[in-house]
Amino acid sequence: MRSWFVVARSRQVGDKPLAVTLLNRPLVIARDREGTLMALDDCCPHRHVPLSLGRMTDDGLQCAYHGWTFRADGRCVSVPGLVPPACAPAARVGSASVMENDGLVWVRLDGHGTTQNGTLPAFLHRLSPSSRRFVWQSTWRARAVDALENFLDAQHTHFVHAGLVRSVQKRNIVEATVSKTPGSIQVDYRGQPTQSGWLYRLFESPREIERAHFCASAAGTAQLEYRYQNGSALYFTLHFSPIDETRVRVHGTLHVENRWAPAWALRLIAWPFLRRVLAQDQAIVEAQQRNRERFRRGEGICSELDLVKPVLDATWLQSSSPCNVVSVVSMSI
Ligand code: FES
Ligand SMILES: [Fe+2]
Repeated sequence: MRSWFVVARSRQVGDKPLAVTLLNRPLVIARDREGTLMALDDCCPHRHVPLSLGRMTDDGLQCAYHGWTFRADGRCVSVPGLVPPACAPAARVGSASVMENDGLVWVRLDGHGTTQNGTLPAFLHRLSPSSRRFVWQSTWRARAVDALENFLDAQHTHFVHAGLVRSVQKRNIVEATVSKTPGSIQVDYRGQPTQSGWLYRLFESPREIERAHFCASAAGTAQLEYRYQNGSALYFTLHFSPIDETRVRVHGTLHVENRWAPAWALRLIAWPFLRRVLAQDQAIVEAQQRNRERFRRGEGICSELDLVKPVLDATWLQSSSPCNVVSVVSMSI
């Protein structure tokens, strides 16, 4: 897939190589002595031992079995014991593109080596590291496309998060401006400065706008942006990276701008509520996955309220792409 995915937190990749799996491809992520990242197939070409069992040396990533050593581009640079020192000519391991952004390690499977300037969606570029409050990780038994839709869609919140996010009895008519391109969608919700749930009442103030973002250049990533009338802003970003067809690794970040919200206070006070919301989302998309398998179902029926599904399906299920279009939908949420 021609797209960037988050596979780890930056601080998880230190001296010890880290094993991850992205889209069925087992990789080892490691950092050389200069701090440069590498993403290699987690399989030594000599006798197929996982390279993630190895260690970093001054020359590169050294296999735990016979010590063959590999650079970030996958080249073997040392076969211990050969006299004179040399390398087996065909010894090379597959590599993927890797970079760091916002304290996270990103991998792109269709590229090679380290890159500094991967093409991430514009909505990620505005996040300043100083506004990042925490990173959360989990694994869900779900498809990425379903987890993304769940995160971006507002219509489930009255039921799955009743009382916490919204309530069925307290709906407002809002205007949703939907801007679509073949690989991206932005939905701007206007007309709902306040919200009925406890999360709003405890931690928010009147909103100017709520926005949902998705772009296929980081196909597992989606963001909810909340801008407030007092000039503050909050960005909740989830990164869903498929391990295989039915499991996703999830990384979540919260960025806060222009308001008092130290990390310790958020962890102590807001996190228990957010964790509950995330657990509710995980439970519903896992139930969806189990039942799709039980009934052997494909995609479901859509209504006009299913704003993000066509763009997500075009990216994840290769269905026909929507063209560039901006539309305004009235709905009650
Ligand atoms: S299996 Fe890796 S060096 Fe032999
Ligand atoms: Fe939700």
